[in-house]
This record gives sequence, C-alpha cells and structure tokens, in this order.
Amino acid sequence: MHRYTARFVECHRQYSVCHMSSAAGKRRALRSAFPVLDLPFWPIHKHIYEANLRNSNACLKKYTEFRKKVREGGGESSIARHTQRNRKLLVRDRLRLLLDDEDFLELSPFAGLGLPYGDIPSAGCLTGIGRISGLWCVFLANDATVKGGTAYPITVKKQLRAQEIAIQNRLPCVYLVDSGGAFLPLQSEIFPDKNHGGRTFYYEAMMSAMKIPQVAVVCGSCTAGGAYIPTMAEETVMVHQIGTIFLGGPPLVKAATGEEVTPEMLGGARLHAEVSGCVDHFAWEEKEGFDYTRNIISTLNFQLPEEEEEAKKREAEEEPLHSSEELLGLAPKSYNYSLDVKMVVSRLVDGSRFLEFKARYGTSLVTGFAKIHGHLVGILANNGELSYEAALKGSHFVQLCDQRDVPLLFLQNTAPGAALTPSTKRAEMNSNRLKAQGSMMSAVASASVPKITVVIGGCHGADSYAMCGRAFDPNFLFLWPNAKVSVTAPGHVSSLLPIDGEQDEEQKKQEEKLNRRLAEESSAFFSSGRMWDDGVILPQNTRKVLRDALDIIKQQQYQLSTEKRRSAFLRM
Ligand code: COA
Repeated sequence: MHRYTARFVECHRQYSVCHMSSAAGKRRALRSAFPVLDLPFWPIHKHIYEANLRNSNACLKKYTEFRKKVREGGGESSIARHTQRNRKLLVRDRLRLLLDDEDFLELSPFAGLGLPYGDIPSAGCLTGIGRISGLWCVFLANDATVKGGTAYPITVKKQLRAQEIAIQNRLPCVYLVDSGGAFLPLQSEIFPDKNHGGRTFYYEAMMSAMKIPQVAVVCGSCTAGGAYIPTMAEETVMVHQIGTIFLGGPPLVKAATGEEVTPEMLGGARLHAEVSGCVDHFAWEEKEGFDYTRNIISTLNFQLPEEEEEAKKREAEEEPLHSSEELLGLAPKSYNYSLDVKMVVSRLVDGSRFLEFKARYGTSLVTGFAKIHGHLVGILANNGELSYEAALKGSHFVQLCDQRDVPLLFLQNTAPGAALTPSTKRAEMNSNRLKAQGSMMSAVASASVPKITVVIGGCHGADSYAMCGRAFDPNFLFLWPNAKVSVTAPGHVSSLLPIDGEQDEEQKKQEEKLNRRLAEESSAFFSSGRMWDDGVILPQNTRKVLRDALDIIKQQQYQLSTEKRRSAFLRM
C-alpha cells in the first residue's frame, strides 16, 4: 500500500470508530442492509485534493477542446457542401430524429484525434447507444462531412468495436450509411487483414445468426464494400435522391463501358426498392426514413418492463452522501496523489452503501457489493499495489460474483512501475505475487458475468490485466481524463531498463527521452484517439454512465429468444 493510502486508511478507521458524522447519524434509521461509507474530506487531504482538482480542471479544458473539435466534423465548407449542395442532414440531427431522447452514450468520441495521418473527427463515424421506443440500440452513423464519410483505419476499428458491443450485450444495431467506402490512400491498412473492413460484414452475418436485429438506413453514398451493409441487414430503408447503392459509381461505368448514367439510375432508392429488391422501405425524405426505422424497431421481439415499474424503482434509489463533483479532487494527478479508493466508491454508489468483502485482508484491493441506480454490482478497486494477498482476494471475489451472476465493476488505479527484486526475500514475494496475479487473471478472463472497467488513475503493467484491462474484454472500458495508460508510468522507466554498471550520460539521455515519450503517449486522450477504450468520461458523470451501461447490459434479459419459444412448444 502506498504511503498516502496507508495514512488515510488509518485516518478513516479511527474516524469510523471515534466519530460519527451528522450525515451518517441521520441516515442510520434508513439503513436497509449495506453499511454506509461516510467518508468526507479532512483537512489532512487538503493539499492532495487541491492538486488533483487543479489537474482535473486542466484535463477538463483539454476535454472541452476535443469535444469542440469533434462537433465541428469536417469543417465549415464540408458542412455547407453536405447540407446545401447534397441536401442531407448532419449526423447528430439524424440521431436526434431517431432517438427517444437526448440520453445517448457516445462511444469513443475522441477516436481519430492526433493520429499520424492527421485529425479525423469522430473517426468519420459516430457510434453510440441510445433508445428507440424504449429499446437500447447501437448506432453506427457515418459523418460524410469528414472526407465523404470514407473509412480510415481508425473508422474500421471504431465500427468493429461498436459491432462487438452489440454482440457482447445482444443489442439491436442501426447503421446510418453515408460513406464513400475505403479511404483509398490507406487501403493497405483497411482491406487485407482479419480485423480490417471485411470483418464488418463477417460480424453482420454472425449477428444475424445470433438473432441480434440489424437495420440499415441508406441516407447517402453507399459504394463498393459499403454496399454490403444494407444488403446484409435484416431490414433496410433507403431515402430517395440522397441514398445510392452501387459497387462502382458512374465514373467507373463510363470508364468501363462508355455509358453515361446518373447515380440515381445506377443505384438510387427507386431502383433498389422496385427492381433489385435490395431495400425494403422507400422513403421520400430523411425524416420519413427515420420514422420507418423507429417503427421497425418497435416490431422487435422484446418485452421491456412497464414504465411505471421502472419509475418506482428509480424513486427508491438513494443518491450518494457526498457530491459527485468531489470526484474531481479524488481523480489522482499521479499515483502518489491517490486517496483511499473507498472515498471514490462512496461517491459512486447508491446511498454510499457498501458491503465490504474481506475488509481486513489484502487491503490494497478493496472488494465488496454495492448498488448503482438499483443494479447490484461487485466492485474491485485498487488501493495500492496488487499484492499477493490482494490478488488472491481478487480471484476469490470475482469467482463469488460469477457464481451469483453479479456484474463486476473494476475501478483501476494500478502501480506505476514494475516490482523490483533487490533481495531474495523480495524475489520470493514477487514470485508469489506473480502466481496470485496469474490466478486473478484467469478468474477475470473466465468469469461469464458482464464486466465494466473504469480507469480512475493508472493503467500500467500486469496489474492492469488482472483489473480487467482492454485485453480482458470488459463489456465497457472508460477512462477518466487524468488516467495514464502505459506499460510503466512516466518517470519509472529505470525499473525496466537493463542495469549496466554506472549510468553514463548517454544512458541518462536515453532515459529522459523515453520518459518524455511515455508522458506524451500515456495520456487518456492519446489512448482514446487510438481506441484503446470506449471513451473518456468525466468523473462527475461516471455514476450516470455506469447506470446507462448497466441498463444496457441488462436489456438482453427482455429479448424473447427462440429457445424460450421452443421450450414452450415442448410443454404443449
Ligand atoms: N478515398 C479517398 N478520398 C475520398 C474518397 C475515397 N474513396 N471518396 C471521396 N474522397 C474525398 C474527396 O477527394 C474529397 O476530398 P477533399 O474534401 O479534400 O476535396 C472529399 O472526400 C469529399 O468528396 P467529394 O467528392 O468532394 O464530396 P461529394 O459529397 O460530392 O461526394 C462521394 C462524396 C463519397 C459520393 C464521392 O466522393 C465518391 O463517389 N467517392 C468515391 C467513392 C468510391 O468509388 N469509393 C470506392 C472505395 S473502394
């Protein structure tokens, strides 16, 4: 356990024994089952709180800049071409017409920013999860203001991740197609490999086989490979004079046969609705196309709980004792600025109620049960290095939750450097730790319950794998803007470099260079630009994001599956 954490844990222990705050006192009568974690800030936290807050405000500034960049899409002239010359709606306006409300969990909004081939706002394709007729659906919507909606390598990655989320959580999928196909100058990074463009169609086929409904709306160009998206979806809507579907466009026809054809004649909505049969619904304009889509979704075989029932449940939920804004002072500027992670937990969970598991063992990992907007979850939160005892406890808790079908929430803030072995005693400890961490990784990987990871601080080394990092396939993985993602944190490279006697000037320079590079490459924005996560979320919005994610994960229970119907027949 690091120095600060140890001090504060002790401080809270004494506090809970000797003093009861008025808030806890008042709430004792309401206590149902789980004990309340009433952990306010103390004067001793002041300098850490303030340093974290300053850092959070700087991160917020960057977050706001990135959001602005994304909202501007391909820029003024592209927007004018899209809306005035091509007479199409902007992608966010399309979503507004489709969705029930503003509640839209946008996925990886910063993907595509700061890449070697430039800034590609929204990676040219907006993805996210929103509701139609009360049903959460995944949306993949090309933004044609960004280079005609063409697919860059990052676009393909973003589309595939959205489809994977649809598959893992069994969510209906809606494609808003408006794309010029592959971005040709980067074709070698889009076309040939397993997780390149072709995978989109493979996933479409798999989703159909798994009875995950897919609807496509052709509201723009749909050329070459893109033409298979609407053709492979179960139901397709196409908008007159805006949508076109063809493998090769009019210039290609002219080059090959000398014939002059219009896009409408070659692959317009009339042709595909009346002659080829590639689409199922002809819409005169975009608004009508989205009305069709909403109607199609309302025919899917889901039985959602009654609205009144849901409203009653929500009313019964308690807010955390302390404001979520305080999370800004808890988001660690660096590892040494981490406070007791229970302070974070208490600001995220219903009524700050937390039933801790093995509270006195392996205390550098906090484990226990809580509710988030009524959803029961098992929480694992780093509170120092993932020691031998902590990793054993982690495995135990993960298996327990798996047995009870309780979703897991990982709050990740892992140690910045690799464990050193300066003595035999330490070597033995590290070997034991290795075995226990390996067991925890196995437990996490093989647990069949849904998993959500939020990186609230560091995401480094093997500790991050055991805490359900990206490679361990969590249903969702979000980052706080202060998060650092790298094999080892900046300033800790020496633990990884070979020790070669006295350090000479050249070695020192190398180390400095590596540290500078790590500092740049470990930022949450660098990570999110490359889609190593599902998006940067603000600490104060985390509770709401978790609520949406848990609601979304739960929805599959309401799909009336063929298995159920078959067993009903058997009973007859
Ligand atoms: N690869 C690379 N760049 C492309 C592209 C492609 N496949 N398709 C379009 N672009 C670029 C254009 O060069 C233009 O760039 P600029 O803004 O820097 O000038 C930008 O995207 C917008 O294209 P533009 O033709 O000006 O816009 P539009 O709205 O009139 O038409 C399309 C958009 C997509 C219908 C049209 O560009 C088109 O048909 N593209 C070719 C599609 C194709 O054959 N794809 C095959 C891929 S395998």
